[in-house]
Amino acid sequence: MYPCSCSIQQWDSDEPIPRSELLAGVAGKHGLLCLLSERIDKEVLDAAGSNLKVISTLSVGVDHLALEEIKKRGIRVGYTPDILTDATAELSVALLLAACRRLPESAEAVKNGGWTTWKPLWMCGYGLSDSTVGIIGLGRIGQAVARRLKPFGVKKFLYTGSRPKPESAVEFQADFVPLTKLAEESDFVVVTCSLTPDTKGMCDKDFFSRMKKTSVLINTSRGAVVNQEDLYQALVSGQIAAAGLDVTTPEPLPTDHPLLSLKNCVILPHIGSATYATRSAMSVLAANNLLAGLKGESMPNELQL
Ligand code: NDP
Ligand code: DGY
Repeated sequence: MYPCSCSIQQWDSDEPIPRSELLAGVAGKHGLLCLLSERIDKEVLDAAGSNLKVISTLSVGVDHLALEEIKKRGIRVGYTPDILTDATAELSVALLLAACRRLPESAEAVKNGGWTTWKPLWMCGYGLSDSTVGIIGLGRIGQAVARRLKPFGVKKFLYTGSRPKPESAVEFQADFVPLTKLAEESDFVVVTCSLTPDTKGMCDKDFFSRMKKTSVLINTSRGAVVNQEDLYQALVSGQIAAAGLDVTTPEPLPTDHPLLSLKNCVILPHIGSATYATRSAMSVLAANNLLAGLKGESMPNELQL
């Protein structure tokens, strides 16, 4: 689609490129295709030098890119919105159901002998029917989550963001509310915002202290939006009922991390967009963004800096 002759230097492994290899390899290059696991900061940009004209990331999230520095240098950025929205929303719903209906804990009980007989209150959780769902960040993925949750009988949707979005909210009759009200009134809180200085640590001790004891937190955005120490305390003390995280800080989460000892916390290894079709479409889009940028043409998806 974007014919272009260029030579490629590739880190040909699923494992992250070592920092030293990245710094050496990027020197003098005109374009860089990167993953969300690579921090593209001043050091990398300096190592690349003035040839670098375009960065294409295989992600919709851009919190790993030093955007101010990139903008200052006149470098263009391509990213992969929309094509991963369905897969990520689907995973968000799966994680929500897994956490609120205690699926991993129940499946484990079948294997370890914990299942003795049918008992009236054993493995009870919380359902979506008649519930209030709060969405932090009613963007592409936030809306796609709400669309999928609505048929479960959700009574009310609330959302927060930097401004009301009546054009997006109308489909769900969702109310724009302050973060504190969203915490107080939601039975389920789903975090689907981007990670920015404003959203970093947004779900903290104060936030959890306002949530209902029967409420469930789901985070499929970025780990750093949630203060994990505060979340641990909220889960251990019964301040909230359960949590489901697809994203953590750091990634991977160390296997001895306290959150992993909790039955009421379901943690997945950042697999929101992990379907074969989605990852394949992301790869094609990221390559086309890069090629268009190298040719000085308009990119299929360019980030407005
Ligand atoms: P969008 O840009 O469409 O949505 C981001 C939303 O974040 C916007 O609605 C924005 O609202 C909201 N937001 C920004 N600042 C705030 C704030 N202070 N409070 C509340 N909301 C805020 O992006 P996508 O929906 O496509 O993706 C969202 C994020 O999901 C990505 O940035 C990425 O980090 C993550 N992601 C994770 C995946 C995974 O594998 N788990 C897969 C794909 C994405 P407003 O416009 O009002 O500012
Ligand atoms: C993204 O695109 O930002 C996700 O985290 C991975 O698909």
